[in-house]
Amino acid sequence: MNILILGSGGREHALAWAVMQNPKCDKLIVAPGNAGIAQIATCADLDINHGGAVVTFVEENAIDFVIVGPEAPLAAGVSDRLRDAGLLVFGPSEAAAKLEASKAFTKEICAAVKAPTAGYGHFTDAEAAKNYIRQQGAPIVVKADGLAAGKGVIMAFDEATALEAIDDMFGGAFGEAGAEVVIEEFMEGEEASLFVLVDGTNILSMGSAQDHKRVGEGDTGLNTGGMGAYSPAPVLSAAIEAKAMAEIIKPTMEEMARCGAPYQGILYAGLMIKDGQPRLVEYNVRFGDPECQVLMMRLGAQAMDLMHAAAEGRLHQAQVNWADDHAITVVMAAKGYPGSYEKGTEIKGLDAQIEDGHNMVFHAGTKAQDGKVLATGGRVLNVTARGDTLQEARDRAYAAADAIDWPGGFMRRDIGWRALK
Ligand code: AMP
Ligand code: GLY
Repeated sequence: MNILILGSGGREHALAWAVMQNPKCDKLIVAPGNAGIAQIATCADLDINHGGAVVTFVEENAIDFVIVGPEAPLAAGVSDRLRDAGLLVFGPSEAAAKLEASKAFTKEICAAVKAPTAGYGHFTDAEAAKNYIRQQGAPIVVKADGLAAGKGVIMAFDEATALEAIDDMFGGAFGEAGAEVVIEEFMEGEEASLFVLVDGTNILSMGSAQDHKRVGEGDTGLNTGGMGAYSPAPVLSAAIEAKAMAEIIKPTMEEMARCGAPYQGILYAGLMIKDGQPRLVEYNVRFGDPECQVLMMRLGAQAMDLMHAAAEGRLHQAQVNWADDHAITVVMAAKGYPGSYEKGTEIKGLDAQIEDGHNMVFHAGTKAQDGKVLATGGRVLNVTARGDTLQEARDRAYAAADAIDWPGGFMRRDIGWRALK
């Protein structure tokens, strides 16, 4: 099979790494890719948010199967254009991608199927939103309705911050994404993510993970795209997973099918767990980044068969072959991230890394230039390891990260702390 993966982050490097291990993969192209991906696959320049351009590329390169990494092409209907052209694609339609692209849409679906989630109000007008905040009081969570690259959520611990967030959002701070606002009850508990494959009808668990969103150790400081992750997440026990499936995920998927927008792809459910009860924080219509890196580390080559089965509507025939293992990924980011940071600093020591089935450095924001590897993004490397225990995986990951010579970077040293405490 000739395969095309869309995207350029650590998530796509991990997907490419898993796909390349599968003997069914004859040729792999990643668009646009990055310096790490270029070491294992062909990278191609392509406007991945433009359905027509992607269809032409797929036809010209005799691609048999397309895997969409990030949310933007999904929300732009790229998978619809591919399906319209009779091509096989892993990733939801534009209509189903609304589960991530509109927070109000997801809240309405949850209300329709009585899925446990935070109470909320949906507003298109600043004054009504402010009245709701005054009525509810703090803490409270203010969210831009649309896609805002993870930045459209303000957790307000006092009323003034919440009111200010309303002014910012309706004032255009988040562009179109903030033209509508969702205001939610603040949920307490421990957060974890559950990943499920869906083929329109059948649902198959692809495992759990826990992200570390804050930039600083002990979960302090500003929110980021994620500073590290591990899988499985023990807080998401089998009993809680079964509850989340029965009360949240399955009813949502049935409602999507009933509304004429059946879901196909990976569904990422962010859950808040308290007293043995999961509640939905959000859905994402793609793999998490860096959660994907730990899932791929654990699944390896079978990940491609599973995604292919989902795309072909054959998930009822598929089964995940789980090992009793643990994986962890430590994000190395450019100093200053998530604020402003320097670009183009050199990373050394990557050639000496052991990259076997237990250790892998996935690239997130790098480029190769004159035989050097340069940092080009905020989150730059994902040092990933697998072990029989989380502690073993973690020791391996930090040993590998410490062997990377990058004065321009930093990492959190406590990834996995909740599970190890
Ligand atoms: P979202 O983009 O909706 O996932 O929000 C980003 C992050 O904000 C989540 O991962 C949570 O850590 C936090 N968050 C979002 N909504 C809530 C809520 N209702 N209660 C508490 N924390 C929340
Ligand atoms: N790591 C969080 C996300 O991918 O949304």
